Amino acid sequence: MTNKAIGYTSMLGKTRKIANYVAKQLNADSFDLKKQTVINLSEYTHVIFATGIHAGKPYRVLVEFLENNKGQLAGKKKSLFVSCSKDGEKGEAQIKKISGELGISDAFFFPGKGEKNEDGITSAVNDFIKEMSRR
Ligand SMILES: Cc1cc2nc3c(=O)[nH]c(=O)nc-3n(C[C@H](O)[C@H](O)[C@H](O)COP(=O)(O)O)c2cc1C
Repeated sequence: MTNKAIGYTSMLGKTRKIANYVAKQLNADSFDLKKQTVINLSEYTHVIFATGIHAGKPYRVLVEFLENNKGQLAGKKKSLFVSCSKDGEKGEAQIKKISGELGISDAFFFPGKGEKNEDGITSAVNDFIKEMSRR
């Protein structure tokens, strides 16, 4: 079993809602990177990062956290999800670019539209949670 943390940044609340849901389902600790810029990650083996997208870019708060925490993130499993508006091929191209820029290859995206699960969260999150629980 991995010990998981989720570090998210959100402007309009969509990423926060998904991140807190994922954290609850995975029994992970969740951190708002806007409020907490210094986090001791030593007890975690897997860190999941989450951000919204503006003009094709992840939020600066996440970019800065990753830059400032290279040392303590080295050797840990890292995953990423973004909440965004682009779906289909455009969403795929966008997540590929962002995943490359952030250096997190295990990356997923949740477009706002589409089916919701029984908790009102995009239903793609259920598969994501299953994937993450295997990491
Ligand atoms: C000014 C602005 C620019 C945006 N640019 C993009 C974009 O380039 N690609 C995309 O997929 N979504 C884009 N979006 C949609 C947001 O990424 C999406 O609504 C996301 O869920 C917001 O997350 P948050 O509520 O956690 O801030 C944009 C939204 C706004 C308001």
